[in-house]
Amino acid sequence: MTASPKQTFNIISLDGAAATGKSSTAHAVAKSLNYLHVDTGAHYRIICYHLNQKSIQALENLELLTALDSFKIKTLLSENSVLFEINETQVEPDDLRSYTVNTLVSQFASLKPVRDFLLRYQRSLVDFAKMHNFKGMVVEGRDIGSIVFPNATLKVFLEADAKTRIARREKEGHMDVINKRDTIDATRKLSPLTCPKDALNINTSLRSLDEVVSIILKEIAQ
Ligand code: DC
Repeated sequence: MTASPKQTFNIISLDGAAATGKSSTAHAVAKSLNYLHVDTGAHYRIICYHLNQKSIQALENLELLTALDSFKIKTLLSENSVLFEINETQVEPDDLRSYTVNTLVSQFASLKPVRDFLLRYQRSLVDFAKMHNFKGMVVEGRDIGSIVFPNATLKVFLEADAKTRIARREKEGHMDVINKRDTIDATRKLSPLTCPKDALNINTSLRSLDEVVSIILKEIAQ
């Protein structure tokens, strides 16, 4: 890991397309290091859920800005993971992974006001982590190593072949539109999904979760 000896707070970024294994890996690495786990995909999903509940379209207009302005945000801790809450409402996991959210989330995630809103929030989680005595965070998403935390201590980029990724989603029992989301996420103008130049690239297609986690832990230990 490229941490300087003086550095006391480590950030591990974990980026990759849908169903490459980010969540399980981030969760396991964070647990093993006792770091705060942050799933930024959940932030985009929660925003998308609330905007859709208000029948707001994925367009950059006054209605969207007003809705974002009205959101009261709370950050809670569930074991070592961040729970992001808007207007005191916990969204059920199945609602976050519903077909509706899966089809809309990338469209909302392409909008500047949504990204700016979450960028501020996500960066503020360093203080939240420190306040709760974590020595670091594992942050998963699409633009973590490139935009949110470009100075992350270790950057990891996960990949997997299309067949494996589709099979993983089917096993989870969620109807997803992986290819469509990946295309929008990778080609949008703002903060597109990209492998940072200095990232450790891991293909998870033929590797078990334990193998992927141990590659990352070994890198950190170096
Ligand atoms: O990780 P996920 O599949 O739950 O993410 C849902 C969507 O959120 C993803 O298709 C694109 C968006 N997203 C993003 O644009 N930037 C991030 N850092 C994380 C997620």
